[in-house]
Amino acid sequence: MPESDSLALWARRAAIKKFDPSKAIGAADWDAILQALHLAPSAYGLQPYRVVDVRDPAKRAAIREGAPQQAQVTDAAHLLVFALVTDFGEPHLDAHLARTKAARGTPDEALGIYRGRVVDGLLGKLDRTALLAWQARQAYIGLAAAMYQASQLGIDTCPLEAMNLEVADRVLDLGSRNLASVVGLAVGYRSEEDVYCKQAKVRLPRHEFVLEI
Ligand SMILES: Cc1cc2nc3c(=O)[nH]c(=O)nc-3n(C[C@H](O)[C@H](O)[C@H](O)COP(=O)(O)O)c2cc1C
Repeated sequence: MPESDSLALWARRAAIKKFDPSKAIGAADWDAILQALHLAPSAYGLQPYRVVDVRDPAKRAAIREGAPQQAQVTDAAHLLVFALVTDFGEPHLDAHLARTKAARGTPDEALGIYRGRVVDGLLGKLDRTALLAWQARQAYIGLAAAMYQASQLGIDTCPLEAMNLEVADRVLDLGSRNLASVVGLAVGYRSEEDVYCKQAKVRLPRHEFVLEI
């Protein structure tokens, strides 16, 4: 893709406030967005979050009741909820090491060294609050990956921190899976009536944002 085309996608992307509820996303496109999310990087490769694809319209309506002004929750074609694994710890690391061994045939000795690094540098070092903050940073990389993949396909998104996360946890019964939501992502097609996406971008002057030192 020429540079100008790829930048044009960034210029077109906007946090959509008003989605067109009548426009569905094709199955192949939706699958590509989920694949991009699945392939998104995370520190140590640990993927310490899950992505909930909320398919039940009744659940979306119930989530919307927690924050009625966030119309995107019900109007977009899809709603993803990013959720942190609340008991993240050594069993998850060991499962990751087992997957690594299965996928790559990595010798046990190398896996053991890697395990020690993750325990020393992360799991044994951070308290639960700091660990959840680290997990949220990984989830936001997934959020960005999904937004970027969608934009490449001409599909619109809106990240949703103002969605009522406590209500989402309850409606989706995430606690029973040791999950807690951290951010949502509405995915669909913009309505012609969305006014914000037609407005100029508001950003810092680039020289104040990118510091050349
Ligand atoms: C992590 C994150 C959370 C956001 N949460 C919300 C939200 O809850 N509701 C909303 O309408 N917009 C939300 N936004 C959209 C931002 O307000 C928007 O990205 C910003 O104003 C820049 O506008 P643009 O994305 O259209 O360029 C969020 C954006 C990000 C990156």
